[in-house]
Amino acid sequence: MNSIFYITTPIYYVNDDPHIGHAYTTILADVLSRYHRNAGEDTFFLTGLDEHGQKVQQAASDRGVAPQRHCDEMAPRFIKLWEKLHISNDDFIRTTEGRHKRVVQDILQRVYDGGDIYEDEYEGLYSVSEERFITEKEAESGEFRDIRELKEKNYFFRMGSYQQALIDHIKSNPKFIQPEHRKNEILGFLKQPLNDLCISRPKSRLNWGIELPFDSGYVTYVWFDALINYITAPGFGSDEVSFKKWWPASYHLIGKDILTTHAVYWPTMLMSAGIELPTSIFAHGWWLIGESKMSKSLGNVINPMNLIDDYGVDPVRYFLMREMVLGQDASFTLESFIKRYNSDLANDFGNLLSRVTTLVNKNFAGILPNPGELTQFELVIKSSAENLGEFVNDKIRSMCINEAIEETLQFIRSINRYMEHQAPWKLVQEDKKSAGRVLYTAAEALRISAVLLSPVMPNRTADLFDTLNHDSLSLKWGGLQPGNKLKQHKPLFPRIELIMEKKDTEQQKNFITFDDFKKVELKTAEIIKAEKVDGADRLLKIQLKVDADTRQIVAGIAEYYNPETLIGKKVVLVANLKPAKIRGVESQGMLLAASDENSLTLVGLDDDDFPSGVNVS
Ligand code: ME8
Ligand code: MG
Repeated sequence: MNSIFYITTPIYYVNDDPHIGHAYTTILADVLSRYHRNAGEDTFFLTGLDEHGQKVQQAASDRGVAPQRHCDEMAPRFIKLWEKLHISNDDFIRTTEGRHKRVVQDILQRVYDGGDIYEDEYEGLYSVSEERFITEKEAESGEFRDIRELKEKNYFFRMGSYQQALIDHIKSNPKFIQPEHRKNEILGFLKQPLNDLCISRPKSRLNWGIELPFDSGYVTYVWFDALINYITAPGFGSDEVSFKKWWPASYHLIGKDILTTHAVYWPTMLMSAGIELPTSIFAHGWWLIGESKMSKSLGNVINPMNLIDDYGVDPVRYFLMREMVLGQDASFTLESFIKRYNSDLANDFGNLLSRVTTLVNKNFAGILPNPGELTQFELVIKSSAENLGEFVNDKIRSMCINEAIEETLQFIRSINRYMEHQAPWKLVQEDKKSAGRVLYTAAEALRISAVLLSPVMPNRTADLFDTLNHDSLSLKWGGLQPGNKLKQHKPLFPRIELIMEKKDTEQQKNFITFDDFKKVELKTAEIIKAEKVDGADRLLKIQLKVDADTRQIVAGIAEYYNPETLIGKKVVLVANLKPAKIRGVESQGMLLAASDENSLTLVGLDDDDFPSGVNVS
């Protein structure tokens, strides 16, 4: 029997457009699915949308449309992006679908019938933005917005009674929560008593949700609804054969933001409902934009659509997979994206294909030559290709995707060095047979590299297979048939020249507002005294007249001006610069000057008789 691989992404809230963070988790799940599919495993890849709850209701009301219509309008934006990114999901679940509502109500009823849901009056602090009751301590932490005091009757899930069972499960299944430091975080959290979970919302407060089967005055809490999607899709309660085949999931992939809901709420819900727990929950780190968090208010949200339009799907997938060490945070900048693209994809990978095809076209009429007998060089390449396949397989299975990719690129680089060393462009003059061996070897190495990179870059590697006129995914050396006619191709990864103007104006971090500018206080000033600073070749100590005041500043202009020639000059002073000591001399501001590597000139006034102390703007 084939082994089974079932992987899920979080189902994303439809309160806003998808951004690079959502794209990342989905691409990651896609890449893992493709590796497992290529390895011949039976694979089921699920993604979808979380359409109920306060956030979505709010987003709909902000847009002035009914919630269902809002969801129906938002869903295609996600679906389109996934198509564009070549996401190969097997199912797409939306929590407003009938198939899901039925399962949620079924689970609620089971848990209720089992005595794990009870009714209670609850009074406490509630965070509207987080949609949950919070403790006093949490309220004081300042991390929660829109806090209100609420008193209402609600339904509670006896989560606390599963605390020990959960701890035992985590301890006896070391792969249950990954990576290790996230597991420890949850075990740390479980050292405190685990509270029961409020799983209802009175309809008077929120009606965009799934109704409790045992009280029509309430809808269920959005997380109790959302998590269940993972069992709805494979057929819980509707297709027992399918459900038995896929469940338990191999991986729930999530971001670190939703670890508690997945590693505490979900397993205890499943325990209560008598359903097996998922095999692994893997929480990856955060994409930062440069050094900062991605947020709408910072205006640094990266829309993956724009990036794909500018640079192509595969390079975006490649960058995201290569750059993040799973479990840690990673930083996205356009500069690092382009640098990575140019070095790995344009110079190393794309260039090797161009070299090989150009030489085969020129010297072998486009027909892949016969390798003939291998020398020690080719034998080394052959064996490193075979080891590479195993290495990549191991790294993928231990969720070290960046290492799998890097090792493949190292292999490609070694083939480029082999080409340099063998110089088939010269060799072909004196020993055509050997040149043929070298070109065959490089082409076969490229094929194997492309097989290993195909889950990450399904499109460009397909172009490469097309060029080599061969599409077997076999990792066995010698797959390419000598005598194959190679096809013409466009550069696989044309170099990107970084043109700053091309940046989205929204992303232009160089703009300041008029208010920012107004903070700088510029004034006209007259130089009344200037002298060298002892022991500092580049510095002048300058006394300025600013209307009735005098100011002393230190300026690094000694290489360009004789102190005497400065007396009487009218200049522009930054008057509200925080005073500082430079080489022990007090400096109360700075002068504006234009400078490049070789010259410098002070900014002066067009009218020399203009008074000092006047505002400049
Ligand atoms: O939490 N870096 O949905 P959501 C990396 N509906 N990944 C990021 C990211 C970033 N900066 N920002 C978001 C929800 N993500 C719930 C989930 S599941 C039953 C319900 C990714 O739209 C990451 O996977 O807020 C994170 O966990 C998820 O988007 C949150 O998406
Ligand atoms: Mg979120």
